[in-house]
Amino acid sequence: MRAGSELRTARLVLRRWRDDDREPFAALNDDPVVMEHFPGRLSRDKSDDFVDRIEAGFEERGYGLWAVEVPGEAPFIGFVGLNPATFDAPFTPALEVGWRLDRAHWGQGYATEGGRAALAFAFGELQVAEVVSFTTVRNDRSRRVMERLGLRHDPDGDFEHPALPEGHRIRPHVLYRIDRTAWESAV
Ligand SMILES: CC(C)(COP(=O)(O)OP(=O)(O)OC[C@H]1O[C@@H](n2cnc3c(N)ncnc32)[C@H](O)[C@@H]1OP(=O)(O)O)[C@@H](O)C(=O)NCCC(=O)NCCS
Repeated sequence: MRAGSELRTARLVLRRWRDDDREPFAALNDDPVVMEHFPGRLSRDKSDDFVDRIEAGFEERGYGLWAVEVPGEAPFIGFVGLNPATFDAPFTPALEVGWRLDRAHWGQGYATEGGRAALAFAFGELQVAEVVSFTTVRNDRSRRVMERLGLRHDPDGDFEHPALPEGHRIRPHVLYRIDRTAWESAV
């Protein structure tokens, strides 16, 4: 598998972004339930800026937050992928696995299935020693995806997200991690 190439799973294609993805992506970024664990919803402009940053990352590194397609069912349901975490925290720099899907497609295992492919890419193609994931304390759905993928909560790594002001409701974050040995025994 070449860096930057599409990833395929039993039900999904993880691919580079197309202009047609921008409208459905803006719609999910404007959904208060999808964005419950983020500082706020995104305007169309901010959503498009995010796509631009993701695509610039693919150009630079050959991987990133892949657009997710369910062939025969939906051309775009959100993203799953890998993102370098570079903000100031004891565990950074690190490679993060993450996901954000349209609510209509929750509850079907797509985030877990795509996340598994992203981890295989990280440990296989990129040969990293470890992958992390993090989210707000109450984001149980995302925490369950992490656990299904074999990531384990590292309470010593829990942190206050430096991009958010002190006292902000979602500033406290939990850290999950998986190293190569744990990944090899999870697959
Ligand atoms: C986090 C998020 C991607 C999780 O979505 P999800 O649908 O719960 O996760 P999955 O796609 O892995 O689906 C797993 C669920 O589908 C169910 N499921 C149904 N069919 C399944 C299948 N074939 N395989 C696996 N799970 C299946 C599982 O039982 C599980 O439900 P449960 O957690 O209630 O037990 C989604 O809630 C989201 O986009 N949230 C908003 C953005 C966000 O918070 N992102 C994370 C920020 S760190």
